[in-house]
Amino acid sequence: MNRPELQFYKESIEEALDAYLPSSSCVPEKIHEAMRYSVCGGGKRIRGVLALIACEVAGGRWQDALPAACALEMIHAYSLIHDDLPCMDDDDLRRGKPTNHRVYGEAIALLAGDALLTHGIATMVNNIPAGLEGAYHRALQELVEAIGTQGMIGGQVLDLAAEGKQLTLEELNLIYRWKTGALIRAALRMGGLIGGGEQWVLEALTQYGEALGLAFQITDDLLDLEADPEILGKMVGSDLKKQKATYPGIVGNDEAHRLAMAEIMRACTALAPLGESGKVLIELAEAVLKRNH
Ligand code: IPE
Ligand code: IPE
Ligand code: MG
Ligand code: MG
Ligand code: MG
Repeated sequence: MNRPELQFYKESIEEALDAYLPSSSCVPEKIHEAMRYSVCGGGKRIRGVLALIACEVAGGRWQDALPAACALEMIHAYSLIHDDLPCMDDDDLRRGKPTNHRVYGEAIALLAGDALLTHGIATMVNNIPAGLEGAYHRALQELVEAIGTQGMIGGQVLDLAAEGKQLTLEELNLIYRWKTGALIRAALRMGGLIGGGEQWVLEALTQYGEALGLAFQITDDLLDLEADPEILGKMVGSDLKKQKATYPGIVGNDEAHRLAMAEIMRACTALAPLGESGKVLIELAEAVLKRNH
């Protein structure tokens, strides 16, 4: 979507990422180059942008959530580097470029992922805006929980275990909630906490995040079947090749589209208590449904 403030948030995150990442001339150069290769120059930045918007919706200043937005994007980039490794999804293309291990080799790709995880946390810990120590502590708790073994990692483990298996929709939902939903939900809650949101605001953001996260992974599956690879920046047909358990695989493409739409409606309904200030999140949710990359 091309709302000017969203473009502005995206660019602000990209500038901050550049500033927070070690320079590629820092020793050992190779690892810093590999980290920058996967973080900079590509990606929709949806998790970072969601954190900034949530912070504003909760009554805070978006700038105060920038270190958290950058941590989310670094950790997301780490998850993508590892997700693409031959021992996982074995993909060769990401964000329109060869995957990290294709350029730097598997060992450096593994370490670049590890380093982005550590550096993401360090970015938050070392750049807490004055007076927001308590909020950042809580936001960090959200983050580490979301990426743990009952969050992103747990989801990735179940995703691998499900290859070649016929899952129920309920089983698949748990995988999606964890592998993709948890970080998106955390992005909204982290922004909400840093913005000083009251409980009812956090609750609305959480409900929205859960529904959006599910819809986001369903549309990711559909894009793997239906997108133009030039625009997608990834190979299509990757899930079929790996016999992944997916929504379209279980219910068919049309029903998967319908269920993604139902989740987006659920996401938008959850924002009702926020009134006018939730409008940008509604537009963003609608854009997720129509996305082509
Ligand atoms: C891809 O995420 C991985 C999933 C969790 C589906 P994105 O579609 O947000 O990837 P980028 O950051 O825009 O490249
Ligand atoms: C990735 O899901 C979820 C992550 C935690 C990285 P996918 O494996 O479907 O993501 P893509 O399609 O490779 O981006
Ligand atoms: Mg995967
Ligand atoms: Mg993958
Ligand atoms: Mg996918």
